[in-house]
Amino acid sequence: MPVEIIPARSAESRPIWFIEKGGIDQAGLAQDAVFWARANDFNGEAGRVLVLAGEKGAIAGALFGIGHEEPESQWALLAGKLARALPEGDWHIEGKLQNASLAALAFLMGGYSFTRYRKKDDKSIRLALPEGVDAHETQAIADAVTLARDLINTPPNDMGPDALEQAARDLAAKYQAEISTIEGDALLAQNFPMIHAVGRAGSIAPRLIDMRWGNEDNPKITLVGKGVCFDTGGLDIKPASGMLLMKKDMGGAANVLGLALMVMAAKLPIRLRVLIPAVENSISGNAFRPGDILQSRKGLSVEIGNTDAEGRLVLADALALADEEEPELIIDMATLTGAARVALGPDLPPFYTHDDDLAQALGRKASETADPLWRMPLWQPYAKKLSSRVADINNVTSDGFAGSVTAALFLSRFVEKAESWMHFDIFGWTPVEKPASPVGGEAQGIRALYQLLKERFPAR
Ligand code: BES
Ligand code: MN
Ligand code: ZN
Repeated sequence: MPVEIIPARSAESRPIWFIEKGGIDQAGLAQDAVFWARANDFNGEAGRVLVLAGEKGAIAGALFGIGHEEPESQWALLAGKLARALPEGDWHIEGKLQNASLAALAFLMGGYSFTRYRKKDDKSIRLALPEGVDAHETQAIADAVTLARDLINTPPNDMGPDALEQAARDLAAKYQAEISTIEGDALLAQNFPMIHAVGRAGSIAPRLIDMRWGNEDNPKITLVGKGVCFDTGGLDIKPASGMLLMKKDMGGAANVLGLALMVMAAKLPIRLRVLIPAVENSISGNAFRPGDILQSRKGLSVEIGNTDAEGRLVLADALALADEEEPELIIDMATLTGAARVALGPDLPPFYTHDDDLAQALGRKASETADPLWRMPLWQPYAKKLSSRVADINNVTSDGFAGSVTAALFLSRFVEKAESWMHFDIFGWTPVEKPASPVGGEAQGIRALYQLLKERFPAR
């Protein structure tokens, strides 16, 4: 049911009226439509869809309830219900909406389904965008969300480190980006010891994907995404319930690729770099062990307290590389801790940064785009919980408190020279259906981040 954008309303396209709660009489509808709404007990209840009958069994249009208490950006996402609820055909949104761009985008996002392994009977829905909505940008954002969701939803037997690399290569080819990879033992030769150690037990070689795009003279922005294609926990193996969803452990990589897509489609004047350590955290005779002491690219020695805290290890080597060229901004995204879910639940990813201005600006974008994010503190007094008796740092704390904060503090040790750094501890998954989100892989934070980058680096 992917929704197709059509350039303009056609003669056949049918109107959708957005009705506020209690607003059925003020909506300027024809008498018959008002009577029909009353007969169906419809009066703008949030998320309700009522199809209007036309002559001779035709469909004349639809009413869509937007409620009234939701903040503006929240009701806009409600429009995600439309693609699933409406009968097939061409549609347009009637009247002037406050938040037309977001409503149109939500319509597209709600039409997503993962069909790679089971073709659904497809209904064809086409949407003429409301006036003033940028079709190119709306399509790019929807494509980015679809890319992130598809990559996460693809099971680990078809989304190993090799397939993740191929996905990055496909994206690079589409936007003429340069891409290279460092694979297998070359990781040792080129000093990425922790990416190698975590990934070497996997049957598909670990690798570091390095994509570059844009003019070298532009401000350098580097995205780093956790690409753990499956997380068994390693020798500190996860229980079945904890392992079940671990195909989504490359959700950070999927999300930064989606963000890269938007940046490149908009031709933002930045020098973009995307780094993805792509590995499987597997179990084999050569797996890294609890108690091992690893060298890192940065030169810090890392004692392994738990092989299930693997994401921070592969990210640390990638962050160290990102930091070497002293970029203006490093953004990393990772399905890093279960603790982030305990703190804020699946739908509100925490982010961490030392940069207060950036945090505030991002907070605004998050609410404007209905892409929720919540800042959590890099609480320095907890850093000592990561101390080791035998190495420079341990990869876990012994008490397990503040797990998302201490994971962020671990990462912070590997970023020194970049002007700013932001870290996102995302879930990458929608466990309960939402209007614009079916259950499954999810894009989180990247729509807000794209708007932030667009504001800071407007296209010329
Ligand atoms: N990929 C997991 C984190 C995760 C688990 C994210 C469940 C979302 C849902 C990560 O590699 C991990 O296993 N983290 C451990 C860290 C612990 C050993 C310090 C965790 O969160 O339990
Ligand atoms: Mn793990
Ligand atoms: Zn993991």
